Amino acid sequence: MNDKPVAVITGASRGIGRSVAIALAAEGYDIAAIARSVDSEGMENLGPDVENRGAQFFPIGLDISCTSCQKEVVSNILDRYGRIDILINNAGVSPPHWEDVLNMTEESYNRVMNINLKGPVFFAQKIAREMVWLKQQISDYKPVIIFMTSVSAVRSSTNRAEYCMSKSGLSMASTIFADRLSHEGILVFEVRPGVIQTDMTAKIKDKYDKLISEGLVPQKRWGLPEDIGKAVASISRGDWNFSTGMVFEISGGLNINKL
Ligand SMILES: NC(=O)c1ccc[n+]([C@@H]2O[C@H](COP(=O)([O-])OP(=O)(O)OC[C@H]3O[C@@H](n4cnc5c(N)ncnc54)[C@H](OP(=O)(O)O)[C@@H]3O)[C@@H](O)[C@H]2O)c1
Repeated sequence: MNDKPVAVITGASRGIGRSVAIALAAEGYDIAAIARSVDSEGMENLGPDVENRGAQFFPIGLDISCTSCQKEVVSNILDRYGRIDILINNAGVSPPHWEDVLNMTEESYNRVMNINLKGPVFFAQKIAREMVWLKQQISDYKPVIIFMTSVSAVRSSTNRAEYCMSKSGLSMASTIFADRLSHEGILVFEVRPGVIQTDMTAKIKDKYDKLISEGLVPQKRWGLPEDIGKAVASISRGDWNFSTGMVFEISGGLNINKL
C-alpha cells in the first residue's frame, strides 16, 4: 500500500489537466497521469515537473471513450499503489468543426458524447466502486471525485451544441455521484471552468481576446490552467469537506447575471 495518497488525472498531458497534476504533486499526491498516449511531448514534459515536487509519476495511455479498456487501467493503478484517493475526470474535447446545431452531425455528436460524457461516467463508476471497498480497508481514507465540466454546461452555444450537451450531462453525473456516494464517505465536486487559455481555445484566441477586452468576462482576463489547479488543490486539502455536490465555477465572474 502506497504511503502517500494517489491522484488519477485524465487529460493530464496538456492544459488544465497538466496544471492539476502539478498542483496535486505539490500537495503530496503521487500522480497517475492519463492521456491517449504516453509518448507525447506533453506527457514526457510532465514527468519531471511532477517528480521535481517529490511525487511519483505513472504515465498511462487510455482513450477515455473506450469503456472496455478502463478496467485494466484501474487494475494497473491499484496493482502499483493499492489506493486511489482522488480522481479528476478532466479529459475532454471540443468538436473540431463548429457547426450550427441545425447542421450538427451524428458522427460529431457521438464522438463528443463518448469522450466527454460516457467515458468519464463509466470511469468514475469503476473507481467509485473501488473507493467504496478501499474505505473499509484504509483508516483515515478520504476519497474525492471531481468532474471537469464547463460554463457550457449551463450556457448555450448554438455552434457547438454537442459540447454543451455533453457538459450539461456531466454536470448531472456529478450531482448523481455526489448523492449516491454521500453516505459512503466519498465526496464529489463539479469544477466548471470559464474561458481558459489552453490548446482547446487556441483557435478562438483572437475572437476571445476581443470579447474579453470588451467585458465578456467581468474580471477582464483569460483564465489560466493554474486557476483551475489551485481550486482542485484546495478541494484536495479537505477545505470543502462539508460541501459534497458543490459546483466550483472558476470563470472570472461569467456567473454574474447582469442587467
Ligand atoms: N479551455 C477551456 O476554456 C475550458 C473551459 C471549460 C472546460 N474545459 C474542460 O476542461 C478539460 C480540459 O480542457 P483543456 O482546455 O485543458 O483541453 P486541452 O488543452 O485540449 O487538453 C485536453 C486533454 O484531454 C486529453 N484527451 C483528449 N481526448 C482524450 C481521450 N479520448 N482520451 C483521453 N484523453 C484525452 C488530451 O490528451 P492527449 O491529446 O495527449 O491524448 C489532453 O491532455 C476538458 O474537459 C474541457 O472540456 C476547458
